[in-house]
Amino acid sequence: MGIFSKWKPDRKPKPIPPVDLSLIGVDMHSHFLPGIDDGATDLEDSIQLILHMHELGYRRFITTPHIFWDMYKNTPEIIREKLAILKEELVRRQIPVELEAAAEYYCDEHFEKEIEAQTLLTFGKKKYVLFEISFAQENVNLGRAIFNMRLAGYTPILAHPERYEFWHNDFRRYESMLDKDVHLQLNINSLTGQYGPGARRISERLIERGMVTFIGSDCHHMGHIQLVNAARTHPHLKRLIESGNLLNCEL
Ligand SMILES: [Fe+2]
Repeated sequence: MGIFSKWKPDRKPKPIPPVDLSLIGVDMHSHFLPGIDDGATDLEDSIQLILHMHELGYRRFITTPHIFWDMYKNTPEIIREKLAILKEELVRRQIPVELEAAAEYYCDEHFEKEIEAQTLLTFGKKKYVLFEISFAQENVNLGRAIFNMRLAGYTPILAHPERYEFWHNDFRRYESMLDKDVHLQLNINSLTGQYGPGARRISERLIERGMVTFIGSDCHHMGHIQLVNAARTHPHLKRLIESGNLLNCEL
């Protein structure tokens, strides 16, 4: 046994024929509302993104603009107003998709206040709340925010857990989310390696362990749609769809 005997090259799995994304059908994480975060820049951009996603097989979208009080001070009123404008344009152009809006909440002080006031934007019968944490460091208030969400009758969904690099070497962090009744939402693009090999490996592992219950595009621009398309040939996407664990279709 040499010193390299345990070393395994980081190879992408062998591609498979592209998966039919209409089997997912519902996308529940995207930034399609025009001009209110770092997603769609204007109404035409919103329409083009939705059209391309529809071509890939999606028929229903719950779009989730950032609410991140230091950067994007989006309120339910702003979000509802933009949603109405976009829905009207979809009807005018006869694009046969369903569109709803909620939010992707950043776990900050504003978020905790909204939890307390029970004014969060939710989706689905279980009052799902999509939220994210810092990519740079642990959020010391995470446990409290989750506890208070559950107490207020919300069902938390943690966005792209595979992207929090400081959890990559401690898989228990993911398990502890499930223990706290937090759903894990994988970014479909993570399977392509877009966010690095670590995020891809964690994505594969989360799927192998049956821990992923939602999958989202997190689409901000056309480049993300190309990656969604590329992810279709990843065997783990097929495995996830066939697992029966995904709840996207119920939304
Ligand atoms: Fe997002």
